[in-house]
Amino acid sequence: CGIVGYIGRRPAVPILVKGLKKLEYRGYDSAGVAVLDEEDGLFACKSVGKLAALEEKLGDDYARTSVGIGHTRWATHGRPSDLNAHPHQDCTGEFAVVHNGIIENYLELRDWLSEQGHRLISETDTEVLPHLVEHFYAGDLAAAVRQVLTKIRGAFALVVLSRKDPDRLVAARKDSPLVVGLGDGEFFVASDIPAVLDYTRKTYILADGEMAVVSVNGVKITDFQGNPREKEVFEVKWDAVAAEKGGYEHFMLKEIHEQPRALKDTLLGRLTDYGVELQEVDLTAAEVNQFHKVYIVACGTASHAGLVGKNLIERWARMPVEVDIASEFRYRRPLIDEHTLVVVISQSGETADTLAALREAHRLGARVVAVTNVVGSSVAREADDVIYTWAGPEIAVASTKAYTTQLLGMVLLGLYLAEAKGTMPAEKSQALIAAVRELPRQAQEVLDQQEVIKKLAQSFIAVEDTFFIGRGLDWAVAMEGALKLKEISYIHAEAYAAGELKHGTLALITEETPVIGLATQRGVYEKTISNIKEVKARDAKVIGLTFAGNKDMHKSVDQVVYLPETLDELAPILTVIPLQLLAYYVSVARGCDVDKPRNLAKSVTVE
Ligand code: G6P
Repeated sequence: CGIVGYIGRRPAVPILVKGLKKLEYRGYDSAGVAVLDEEDGLFACKSVGKLAALEEKLGDDYARTSVGIGHTRWATHGRPSDLNAHPHQDCTGEFAVVHNGIIENYLELRDWLSEQGHRLISETDTEVLPHLVEHFYAGDLAAAVRQVLTKIRGAFALVVLSRKDPDRLVAARKDSPLVVGLGDGEFFVASDIPAVLDYTRKTYILADGEMAVVSVNGVKITDFQGNPREKEVFEVKWDAVAAEKGGYEHFMLKEIHEQPRALKDTLLGRLTDYGVELQEVDLTAAEVNQFHKVYIVACGTASHAGLVGKNLIERWARMPVEVDIASEFRYRRPLIDEHTLVVVISQSGETADTLAALREAHRLGARVVAVTNVVGSSVAREADDVIYTWAGPEIAVASTKAYTTQLLGMVLLGLYLAEAKGTMPAEKSQALIAAVRELPRQAQEVLDQQEVIKKLAQSFIAVEDTFFIGRGLDWAVAMEGALKLKEISYIHAEAYAAGELKHGTLALITEETPVIGLATQRGVYEKTISNIKEVKARDAKVIGLTFAGNKDMHKSVDQVVYLPETLDELAPILTVIPLQLLAYYVSVARGCDVDKPRNLAKSVTVE
């Protein structure tokens, strides 16, 4: 979900709506704003659906108001509806709250509030908040919110607005991001920086357990008990246009094309002639040597990057690696102790499941390295060491440049660990580093084949099922390729280890199920080609992906996409690019909402 708040001298509504637009990628099944109007008091307007629906409902009214809060919602408790959309209000209508996260004890609080005579009308957990604020209000809004914070359990970023205290917004965060934008006589509250970038580059990034009382005269940061906190101003260095579409039809296409630059940026200052330098990682060789195993934990696309990481770390550093999905890891009672290195991968650094896994790993005594794209994110702050992926803001829900830079993060970490363990001969690491340096240029070469992929995509318009097959690292990439297609084109896609098909799934292959065959891994090239022949024999149409040197592949498939030559270990970074483009063009051809696929959100800050 996304939160915005404004207090200043300009009309609040356009600023709130514009801010929400920048945050829509966080969730978008409904939206709403609440503003203070001198004549009409506290007024809330909410609408299910996209922001345009809210804008239409708002019309040109309320142009006078210069304080308000807004929200885009991605449903957790309670289906998407006008009633369940935020802001929520109490019975008197004097208090309004927007909230991200989940109030875990809301049922208990609802019962208690009902006993006190409150009437709650929505199905949400959030609605208890304005009622509680009203209950505790005794002349000081911040004091009332502090009292509420002692009653609620769970994760939250919240902003409260009240007619009783019209000159301020009160915000608080625990486990869900919140920033305050510092303007000149005007201030902004938001769950993410892009929402404030049009107005200011100066921000406070609230930490867990911090509150902000924001008025036109300034911002006061305290802890939940009201003790003042010193806060440094965080100056945002990103270019505002970097968060816009910049000429491309969709954010996803723009982000796919940003990969050569993102890869370059991620390598900046990290490669020497002999090895890697990771400034934010502070592990001595002795510390690395006392790890008995590595555990990689992540969700979605990031977990697919983890699968490649496992292969590389095991190959290069000879350490056993497990990969787990964060929502499973936590409840598995994982075998972890101070001799385990836990690697969490998260683009946003705010995914609730991943954050919870990180905390569990810490509780069990493990050292945690985070691979994340967001500086100052929760994951970055809580991990012991960080490897930032410098992909820049990723707006499209389907992850592309974050994934390839995560893969590069895995390469860098693998090399770092191998160096510390002394498991890689100097010639090998030099060859790898030389090959890594070529990747940004080679990624561009793959992108230059865009038109070929666009044509291939046309034959997928009416398809219902597909298979992505490969062996070893190709299998890991197959999973990401299948996920991309499913996410944005709604075609069912399954990734399979190529050698496993004949153990059952081959039964599903017909002329109606196109197959994408990945064959970049030289050690198993012949075997993969045999598996491709097995599906061809069942009349499947096959698109093959392989290195340019494998000139014979066209004999076994219907069409081939050739990739520039690199080492097998680095192939995933190039192989995935045609798969991203394929998903993109199929989605466009099927008329889907590429950047905002149904039912999905960019950043899932609930468990
Ligand atoms: C959501 C997104 C996925 C993403 C996953 C993990 O489900 O839709 O694209 O891979 O979260 O996100 P993270 O920010 O932790 O990498």
